[in-house]
Amino acid sequence: MKGIILHGGHGTRLRPLTHTGPKQLLPIANKPMSQYCLESLRDGGITDIAIIIGGIGSNKVQEYYGSGENFGVKITYVNQDLPRGIAHAIQLCKEFVGNEKFVVFLGDNILKKSISGYVSRFQQSDASASILLCEVNNPTQFGIADVKDGVIKKIMEKPKNPPTNLAVTGIYLLTPTIFDIIDRLKPSWRNEYEITDALQMLLEEGHKIVYDMVTDYWKDTGTPDDIIHANEVILSGMTPYFHGTKEDGVLISGNVMIDDGVIIKNGTQIIGPVIIGKGCIIGPNTHIGPNTSIGDNSKLSKCNIENSIIMSRCNIDGDVKIRNSIIAFNSEIVQTDNAESKVFLLGEGTKISL
Ligand code: DAU
Repeated sequence: MKGIILHGGHGTRLRPLTHTGPKQLLPIANKPMSQYCLESLRDGGITDIAIIIGGIGSNKVQEYYGSGENFGVKITYVNQDLPRGIAHAIQLCKEFVGNEKFVVFLGDNILKKSISGYVSRFQQSDASASILLCEVNNPTQFGIADVKDGVIKKIMEKPKNPPTNLAVTGIYLLTPTIFDIIDRLKPSWRNEYEITDALQMLLEEGHKIVYDMVTDYWKDTGTPDDIIHANEVILSGMTPYFHGTKEDGVLISGNVMIDDGVIIKNGTQIIGPVIIGKGCIIGPNTHIGPNTSIGDNSKLSKCNIENSIIMSRCNIDGDVKIRNSIIAFNSEIVQTDNAESKVFLLGEGTKISL
């Protein structure tokens, strides 16, 4: 089987974080979110993978993943000129897929559970497609499946009056039959070739679509809050380690992952779940956590950070409380007069003096 990861799109809902690169490279627990998709495919036995790229900073995707060798996979890059829809992106992979069954993973979807079981069942099945459904409490925001007695009756994109709360997640197991369908697909009201419309057409033309329910954690990381939540869940499931050094008077508790070369200075408190990337200097008198990721080579001193993502090479120096925030690569916040709690969504290279 082959794999496809969608790494294109505009990422408009995550601006300013996406002004300098694709949203799928934003880190969750210090790893680009699309890497979770890639590892999920690889661990499900799929190592021949196409990555759809397009839009701002798509060269960064190629720089990061390269040939795929470092990740144990073989990557083919496929360019999408404009984000014309998920079905359009899939169609671009027709040659890559050939006659094999394949799995499409939206690069902004995080699925905690392994896909191995779904993949092996689909390999043995005679269905034309298999989708993963997950109960949500905001069904107008997703593709939705109407299911009766274990059979999918209809699939629709972001309905105003959803018949169920069963979201179609961004992991699709498909056969090449879908290409013939997409050839005949018309763009939707939002001018995109929708995968949900293609699946609905498959159904209407008498093809079999099966489904599995996702009962473990799944997230479409569409908004900053979604990313912060996914960060918390991934951090909570990690195994703690300590590869750095710490001075006296440092308190560390809970699920804490400290990478190589990290120096933690006196009077610092780290309350897990927290990850601190390579080469960071933390402290003195700094409070971090819970639910916080600090990217490589960042320097944090005197600040108090909870429930946030601070990316690589940031410098935060001062008595500032940061909550529920995402601060992109190379940003700097220095010198503050008061310690009121602050919320930040800072694009790459931002500088703030308080
Ligand atoms: O996350 C699940 C949902 O994903 C499904 O329930 C919906 O049925 C499906 O349409 C999709 O909805 P979104 O509106 O969230 O899709 P979004 O535009 O965010 O695109 C999903 C991913 O695919 C994202 O990583 C960007 C990438 N993409 C998107 C388009 C439209 C591309 O690479 N190329 C594209 O042309």
